[in-house]
Amino acid sequence: MGTAVTPRKIESQHTDRGTIPVYATGVVEQPWESYSRTDHDVWNALYKRQRALLPGRACDEFLDGVARLGLGENGIPKFEDLDRVLRKATGWELVGVEGLLPEQVFFDHLANRRFPVTWWIRKPEQMDYLSEPDLFHDLFGHVPLLLNPVFADYMQAYGRGGMKAFGIGPEALANLTRLYWYTVEFGLINTAAGQRIYGAGILSSKGESVYCLDAPAPNRIGFNLERIMRARYRIDTYQQTYFVIENFEQLFNATKPDFAPIYARLRDLPAVPAAEVLAGDKVFNRGTREGFATDADA
Ligand SMILES: [Fe+2]
Repeated sequence: MGTAVTPRKIESQHTDRGTIPVYATGVVEQPWESYSRTDHDVWNALYKRQRALLPGRACDEFLDGVARLGLGENGIPKFEDLDRVLRKATGWELVGVEGLLPEQVFFDHLANRRFPVTWWIRKPEQMDYLSEPDLFHDLFGHVPLLLNPVFADYMQAYGRGGMKAFGIGPEALANLTRLYWYTVEFGLINTAAGQRIYGAGILSSKGESVYCLDAPAPNRIGFNLERIMRARYRIDTYQQTYFVIENFEQLFNATKPDFAPIYARLRDLPAVPAAEVLAGDKVFNRGTREGFATDADA
């Protein structure tokens, strides 16, 4: 086992052919042997904490995925072990990356059923908050639902939609990014037992796993594709609005139409502030907005 590992965000490298660029956006082999005892302990502690918190909060499909992947307190999982389960179930596989990818690269991976997972894990002092995705967020938060066939198809459709939006322009891309934000990252789902979490940004956060369902402050509103594409969001605090789907089929079906006419329509409409409730919204909870900052929506 190695000493502490740090992300390698290399921009150029000297070789016998001179200086060549080495892009941090490339796929990297998971350097599993180089994880330190501390890295594995951080995984174990985060896993234990979320796994204890999520029954009754996370949707069954997510908890089922955690079990099928064999995630546990045995240190950082090996991507190759998870790939065996994923490939068989839905044809997805993981690719190791250094961190956030340029949009086009990210969309291309999703469109080809490859899910990028940051290979490094946060430090012990970052247990509660980290401003960028790490291995725990990417792996624990996102990967279990890739075992669900309908959600797996939605993710691929999103990647394909991203490639198209990239060709249309920055406004279309902004519309589509909001869809990812309010579904894949911060989505809630209605079930017979009550509202549950399926968004990875919530599932990998202790505080937001409780807040999103229990706090009176945020709005909880029924899923509506065009409404979500207009909704600004917070990147620095818990969300001020959560959108609730009825089932994963609803999500997948929403991605079936060509988005081009939708983008064209939305160009003439103002973006909606993150905390706003609109007249046509299906409101499950109208938030009290207690403690909300009113500036700096993304
Ligand atoms: Fe994420």
